[in-house]
Amino acid sequence: MAEIFVLNGVNLGTLGRRRPGVYGTLTLNDIEKLLGDEFPEVTFGFRQTDHEGEMIGFIQEAAESAGVIINPGAWTHYAYALHDALECVDVPKVEVHLSNVHGREKWRRRSVVSPVVDAVVAGMGVFGYVAAAAYLLSRGDDL
Ligand code: DQA
Repeated sequence: MAEIFVLNGVNLGTLGRRRPGVYGTLTLNDIEKLLGDEFPEVTFGFRQTDHEGEMIGFIQEAAESAGVIINPGAWTHYAYALHDALECVDVPKVEVHLSNVHGREKWRRRSVVSPVVDAVVAGMGVFGYVAAAAYLLSRGDDL
């Protein structure tokens, strides 16, 4: 059975309560359930942390998996240690943002993570996670 790691970074534990007009009303538990319902054949290693070092541990843990979906939250914009950790993990990786980071503050347009992932999804809300999982599962298929 394929295992996909879904890694959520800083402040994403407050989803559902945090700026619902920007990030929606679903919680991380809802997103985990949505993924489980959409892809019952997949095991999701669903994680959230507000600690950068712990996130690096999660990334390393995903080294043998079928792929990584990562929403680093604000770390996206400045955390070079996450860039370096992702660079060392040789599995397909997708960076997901619930909001359209390109239509918000200027500082959100820069991602230090994008150069070391295979794909980026932004602005699709929770469907970004579903799209990312579908993409990871399609890798290896002759599409
Ligand atoms: C976010 C966008 C980031 O800029 C922000 O700091 C977040 C959430 C998103 O999912 O839209 O925490 O990654």
